[in-house]
Amino acid sequence: MPEITCASNRAIAPTASNQGVYHLQLKQGDVPGYVLLPGAPERTRVIAENWTDVREIASYREFKTVTGVYEGLKLAATSTGIGGASSEICIHELRTLGVHTCIRVGTTGCIVPEFDLNDLIIPVACVRKDGTSIAYIEPEFPAFADTRVVMALMQACEKLGFRYGLGLSYTVGSFYIGQGRPLDENGYWPSFAEKIIPDLQQARVTNIEMETAAQYVVGYLHGMRMGAVLSVIANRVLDRWGDDGGEEKACLAACEAMKILEKQDRERPCNPAICAKVKV
Ligand code: URA
Repeated sequence: MPEITCASNRAIAPTASNQGVYHLQLKQGDVPGYVLLPGAPERTRVIAENWTDVREIASYREFKTVTGVYEGLKLAATSTGIGGASSEICIHELRTLGVHTCIRVGTTGCIVPEFDLNDLIIPVACVRKDGTSIAYIEPEFPAFADTRVVMALMQACEKLGFRYGLGLSYTVGSFYIGQGRPLDENGYWPSFAEKIIPDLQQARVTNIEMETAAQYVVGYLHGMRMGAVLSVIANRVLDRWGDDGGEEKACLAACEAMKILEKQDRERPCNPAICAKVKV
């Protein structure tokens, strides 16, 4: 048998035709260090409604990037697409460009009575059923938000008068069966699917969505500060679905939180003894 050799165990990342990072098609200097992460490309426009000097600078597949200025602060929003796999690509490539702080702006289904449609949930940690972060590190490793980002989001929600709460999110790589949504009465419906929601409720998980755990783990391992603010679009306790301004509120809260963080970074640079791992 001839021995198979590999040119390298560490492949170099491909580049885009404009010499930018492969999927986001962005180059060094295109985006600031503070980036919002909506899932949907269209939500970059909702975010930018609060900005001036808005420019769409790249759009390829699910990844659209818009830059602009929010109350004097330069921000960018890059859409991640749905799920952990495309989130990983997005975060990895943003880190290549020097991005250090990201806030996911998304939607979620709540499974506890404390939250209703259009409320905001700030996940402090997630159950890692995303299917992507397992490719980075063992399942016992936690998916958790950066405390400073959580506090900035709380402060932003208080200032803006938005109803919000802290959450423990179940991030799962499935929207239908994996979130307890059958195809139809006779379709595939394994016995475990019946128990997904009640078991999560027993464990006092607050909400279900598809991206946050992967983003928290990948971002943390790349030395970034990560957080998320999710508007409740599904109420699984009452089996209701709908958005009546929740997404806009999440977008505004994230912009405001970035402003708070940037001010803190300027005025009180992080004590290296406390946060040696984060490279802001
Ligand atoms: N996103 C999800 O993944 N699930 C929901 O129920 C709502 C938003």
